[in-house]
This record gives sequence, structure tokens and C-alpha cells, in this order.
Amino acid sequence: MTTDSDILTVSDVNVDFSVPRGTVHALTGVSLSLRAGETVGIVGESGCGKSTLAKVLVGLQAPTSGHVSYDGQEAWRLSASQRRKFIGRHVGMIFQDPSTSLNRRMPVAQILRDPLDVHRLGTRASRDRRVDELLDLVGLPKSVADALPSQLSGGQRQRISIGRALALNPRIIIADEPTSALDVSVRAQILNLLMDLKTELNLSMVYISHDIQTVRRISDRIATMYLGRLVEDTPALDVDDNTRHPYTRALLSATPSLLHAKTPISLEGPVPSAVNPPSGCPFRTRCWKATAECAETMPEPTHDSAHPDHVFRCFHPVETQRVPSVN
Ligand SMILES: Nc1ncnc2c1ncn2[C@@H]1O[C@H](COP(=O)(O)OP(=O)(O)OP(=O)(O)O)[C@@H](O)[C@H]1O
Ligand code: SF4
Ligand SMILES: [Mg+2]
Repeated sequence: MTTDSDILTVSDVNVDFSVPRGTVHALTGVSLSLRAGETVGIVGESGCGKSTLAKVLVGLQAPTSGHVSYDGQEAWRLSASQRRKFIGRHVGMIFQDPSTSLNRRMPVAQILRDPLDVHRLGTRASRDRRVDELLDLVGLPKSVADALPSQLSGGQRQRISIGRALALNPRIIIADEPTSALDVSVRAQILNLLMDLKTELNLSMVYISHDIQTVRRISDRIATMYLGRLVEDTPALDVDDNTRHPYTRALLSATPSLLHAKTPISLEGPVPSAVNPPSGCPFRTRCWKATAECAETMPEPTHDSAHPDHVFRCFHPVETQRVPSVN
């Protein structure tokens, strides 16, 4: 569903990669929109297309077909240099592993300045001031400005990545597993920093993670992906007992919260190949509710009757635990 407050929209996006054994269908018919000030979490197993979607959202990956627009501006209608400029000013990206995503030969100050230099923003003095501001924003002392990434801890490096992503004052941050390469002890600090910055700077955010509990904690909406498809888009408040797609239920049941003890739903069999996805609904080879109909076509998006923002693609959705309202 697209609304006036949508600042980033992808519609019907496919991404195919040619490989020696055929074509990898990394994304198929993905539509998603991000509204001003909201956080959308994206969950799904390894290989389901989360990072490919992240790259589409920041213009690093061209869709094979479909549309990507920012504030109504279609990104792939612009020339390459216009697109880089336009998306660079709107969207910042934080990658999983800061030890590979930061240039190891550049000192910290230069890493933070680089986006300002590339986009030729401000004067020399104002760029230096911005570097100081960015260090402050991500909670690092000015003394790290001359250090190389290898001289910093993993958590400090990820703070630098966050600072670099914020350098041009973007309205949107795309974070692809930003804590999973870090020591468990610093993950919460980085997550809290992102949440604080989001509020302080009024950012919109797409947060990708395997960890549905973390995503649930920080997101307004949660999108579930399976084998290149977006199969459910749920308001976070609804996520506990009211998700309708069997796959989202299985993901949730595998990570029971302390409050709601759940019986894990075990999924039989491997995730099918993205080169030869099953016909119809891609989840049907592992779904306990699958019928012959599920092999025929991919179910169209259905809006949940109780919450029009809640959309799922399933012929036999799981019943919700909502208490019926008494009139
Ligand atoms: N450049 C590429 N060339 C060929 N195949 C690719 C390429 N990038 C991704 N893929 C394939 O596309 C599919 C989606 O990959 P992607 O990295 O987006 O998944 P993911 O959900 O981010 O996985 P993970 O949780 O392991 O990070 C996978 O089958 C992957 O092997
Ligand atoms: S459409 Fe069929 S196979 Fe797919 S999730 Fe729903 S019940 Fe399962
Ligand atoms: Mg990934």
C-alpha cells in the first residue's frame, strides 16, 4: 500500500543473477514502502534475499525489473551520476561487518569526511567541523580521528560506519545485520545507539536481521521474506499472536519470548534452491498447511480484516488469537 507519507517505495521488484547453473531469483515481485519516521524490520533465513533488497534500497543493485522511488522520484530513470548524488543524499547504509566495509588505509577522520568530499559539500573548515560532530553523535572521542580502523575495537568501528552513513544527513538508514559481526557484549550498545539516533535525527530505518526478537523490539513493522518473496508485512504490535503467514509463525516459534512460551513449529526439509524455486507459493515444500492449490499460483497480497496495514500472501492463513470485539 502506497501513501503520501511514503518516502521510499519499491514496487514489483525482481532481481535475477546469471550463474553457471542457471538464474538465481534473488528477489521476485517484492513491493515495500517505508514511511517517514518509521522503522521496518526485515527477517528471514539465510539466502532469502535480505541483503539484495538492502542493496536495491540504496541503489547499489539495479532491479532486473520493477520500480524504486524516493519521495516519488524514480531512481533508475536518473543518469548514473544523478542517481548516486540523489540517493547518496537521501539514504545511508550500514553493513554487517565494519572490518571489511571501512577502508583500512584511511584514518577515521578521512573516512567520515569522504562522503562530504565526494559530494563536494561545504568548505574545508565546515567539513572538519562535521567530522567532529559525527564523532560526537556516535559517542566517540575526538582522539580517534587519526586512528586507522584496525586500531579500533569492533564496536568502535561500527560506530564509525554509522557516522559515515549519517555524514550527509540522510533521512533514511538501511542497516543490514549491523550487530551480527560484533561481540555479544557490544551488540546492545550499537542497537541502542541506532535507536537513539533514529529518534534524535527523526530518521526512517530499514533494519535487517536474522534475529526476530531484536527486530521486534525496534521496528514499527516487520516484513518476512522467504526465497526472494516478501510473504508478510505485519505491524509490530500484531506480531506476537496475530501473524497470519505460516512461515512467520514458524520463525517466531523458534525464538520464544519469555512472556509467551510457544511450542516450536519444526520446518521439514531444506530451503529450496533460488535457481529452481517451487511453483506457486515457494514455502509449500515445508508448509504444514499446504494444499494442491498452493502449487498452482503465488497467493496475491491479502489485507487482514482487523488491520488494513497487515498484509500476507497465503491461501490458508493461520487464525489470529484476537479476542472478537463485543458490540
Ligand atoms: N552477486 C550475486 N551473484 C549471484 N548470486 C547472488 C549474488 N548475490 C546474492 N546472490 C544469491 O541471491 C540469493 C539472496 O542472497 P542475499 O545475500 O540477498 O541473501 P540474505 O538473505 O542476505 O542472506 P544472509 O542472511 O546469509 O545474509 C542467494 O541465493 C544468494 O546466493
Ligand atoms: S500459500 Fe499454502 S504453502 Fe504457502 S504458506 Fe500458505 S498454506 Fe503454506
Ligand atoms: Mg545478507
